[in-house]
Amino acid sequence: MEPNDDLPLKPLDEPSRLRRRSGAGWTPRSGPSRADFFEHLAKEHDAMAFRPDDLARLPVLRRRLGELEGLRVLEPGCGAGHLTEQLAQWVGPTGRIVAVEPATTMLERARVRTAGAENVEYQPTRIEATDFPAATFDRIVFFRVWPHFEDGEAVLAQCARWLAPRGRLVIAQWDSRAELAAIHRGYAAVAGDVFPPRADLEAALRRKGFSVRQWIEDEREIFIAAAR
Ligand SMILES: C[S@@+](CC[C@H](N)C(=O)[O-])C[C@H]1O[C@@H](n2cnc3c(N)ncnc32)[C@H](O)[C@@H]1O
Repeated sequence: MEPNDDLPLKPLDEPSRLRRRSGAGWTPRSGPSRADFFEHLAKEHDAMAFRPDDLARLPVLRRRLGELEGLRVLEPGCGAGHLTEQLAQWVGPTGRIVAVEPATTMLERARVRTAGAENVEYQPTRIEATDFPAATFDRIVFFRVWPHFEDGEAVLAQCARWLAPRGRLVIAQWDSRAELAAIHRGYAAVAGDVFPPRADLEAALRRKGFSVRQWIEDEREIFIAAAR
């Protein structure tokens, strides 16, 4: 779908990390929906591409995800496949990645990025519209995507069913919640997508049968690992 340029552009309250992400051609504007917003973002500029300081954080993320060789990993909201490419290498040829992404242009970029990786399967839809047999995955990794779900608790319920015993659900953000809120405030389509308060998310995880094993949060990131 073409972005709707008739909509009023909101002024961007540009925090430092977004400024670093922005490049020539970056034009902050919003579509009428979240889906259009992400489509627009992908078409205009590969806004989520890893910067040098992001690349330096990858080994830390890999360590926190634990041993991945041979595992089955679900990645909801894979975007342009920046982490997908890494995950495919980390699980190796005996592992498998299922990456779910509704924005067509994001998905096209992801397919190009991981071309040749035979252990990656894409599903072109929203995570809420997918289904898998119980205990299909060893890891479910929400990377830079969590605040974008209409009903996060419903998504957690799906994940609880899809996660294998001793599996891990991971929610990771490479921004603080304040930075995320500031970034999203600049775009009407995602302005309300704020990372939930810790107590609320912990309670939702508990209600869906998860126990939180790790919660790391500071001015640069949020990393949560939960087990069934
Ligand atoms: C901020 S981007 C991050 C993309 C990728 N995870 C990364 O870090 O490069 C968020 C992505 O989540 C996708 N998304 C939004 N709502 C979704 C949903 N309900 N199910 C799956 N993906 C969704 C968007 O289309 C977008 O590509």
